[in-house]
Amino acid sequence: MPDPEIDALRAALAVSPDNAPLRRHLSRVLVTRGLWADAETELRWLLRQAPAEGELHFELAKAFHAQGKNSEAIALLEARADADLAAAGELTLFAKVLLATGDKERARAVYERAVRADPSAADPSVGLQLAAVVRSDEEPSGEEMQREDAVEVERPKVTFADVGGMATVKEEIRMKIVLPLQHPEMFRAYGKTAGGGVLMYGPPGCGKTYIARATAGEVKAGFVAVGISDILDMWTGESERKLHETFERARRNRPCVLFFDEVDALGAQRSDLRFSGARHVVNQFLEELDGVRSSNEGVLVLAATNAPWHVDSAFRRPGRFDRVVFVAPPDAPAREEILRAQLAGKPQEEVQLGSIAAKTQGWSGADLKGLVDRAVEGKLREALRTGRPSPIRTMDLEKAAAGGGATTREWFATAKNYALHANQAGIYDDILKYLKLG
Ligand SMILES: Nc1ncnc2c1ncn2[C@@H]1O[C@H](COP(=O)(O)OP(=O)(O)O)[C@@H](O)[C@H]1O
Ligand SMILES: [Mg+2]
Repeated sequence: MPDPEIDALRAALAVSPDNAPLRRHLSRVLVTRGLWADAETELRWLLRQAPAEGELHFELAKAFHAQGKNSEAIALLEARADADLAAAGELTLFAKVLLATGDKERARAVYERAVRADPSAADPSVGLQLAAVVRSDEEPSGEEMQREDAVEVERPKVTFADVGGMATVKEEIRMKIVLPLQHPEMFRAYGKTAGGGVLMYGPPGCGKTYIARATAGEVKAGFVAVGISDILDMWTGESERKLHETFERARRNRPCVLFFDEVDALGAQRSDLRFSGARHVVNQFLEELDGVRSSNEGVLVLAATNAPWHVDSAFRRPGRFDRVVFVAPPDAPAREEILRAQLAGKPQEEVQLGSIAAKTQGWSGADLKGLVDRAVEGKLREALRTGRPSPIRTMDLEKAAAGGGATTREWFATAKNYALHANQAGIYDDILKYLKLG
């Protein structure tokens, strides 16, 4: 079909072929007409003149994709994405191309990155396609759902006795959760109803998840643990359904400890939560917590975070997480207890745990577990070599201690800044006390 505008532009270019703005104009017209092959030719010419021009790359990739030249499009977009040059819209296109080639996993990661960089880069068609992928690949079928229902809650064997140290945390949990469950009449007599939860924060590996599980074991309750990032679903508004389902699962199995890990992922300050709908998820979480639609009687809520400064302050209101406790690295006696627990049942001889505990200031429970693991491995290697097993001695533990270190330091470096400069209402006083700054 003759196109007077294109003909006129081509005629003009025949006279001055090096007129880049004119050629750019032609390329745009070709794109709007959907004449992708011609557009590709012009865009290639323009890119030779201006290889750094982002918009040209974007349009060329579009032209490739429109012609089904997906591997060319991927090569181009991949290079831009890897070099961090791709704008959010380009990443969305990249996700679309990847979807067209069947690479769902990668499409999903790239799309997530696009929406994170700029929520307005969201493309409902890509979102829906990815949601369909998630649904068919990951959602359990009806049958699986039933099976999941039968074994839906864990019944932990560990109790407070297995948890070394953490005296204050145990006391808070006992007051807020254990006793109201064991003596409901007493609490009722004083007009106190069960409800609200305990939020634990502190460096990783210091027993937050462990004590949550032990709480369930302590009161012989069920245990439902969820990572907030497992619930958040930026594409479809499935987050609300998943969240509600989680609370319902705990309610069906009361008494039940419902444990939310990484609650900071719901924090208002987090930029990746700017995607539309995030506010709804937070609000629904608060409603479920408040028991607006269904009672939470017998549901004991615990939550944990390594980044309390990102936790939405609405969570700390009365009846919600009104107890916020710092889970510090274990002190020397607690380190000794943890080491003893980790060594229990393993061949050992006169181990001086006091000296090891003294050398491991700042080590987390997980660090200490690693220490014992290393010592055991060393012994095992030795036994395999000599053909003769020998018990673990203090020296073996000392050697293992030299091969590790406290992983909590980095966390405290960050925490210190918040504790010194953003300590509203003294919420981080415990951090300052631990660091001997308060
Ligand atoms: N106080 C403790 N007593 C016994 N073991 C502990 C303690 N703290 C940590 N551990 C060990 O370290 C592991 C990691 O701890 P975890 O609860 O996952 O840490 P967090 O949730 O705080 O990151 C636990 O599974 C447990 O084996
Ligand atoms: Mg944890």
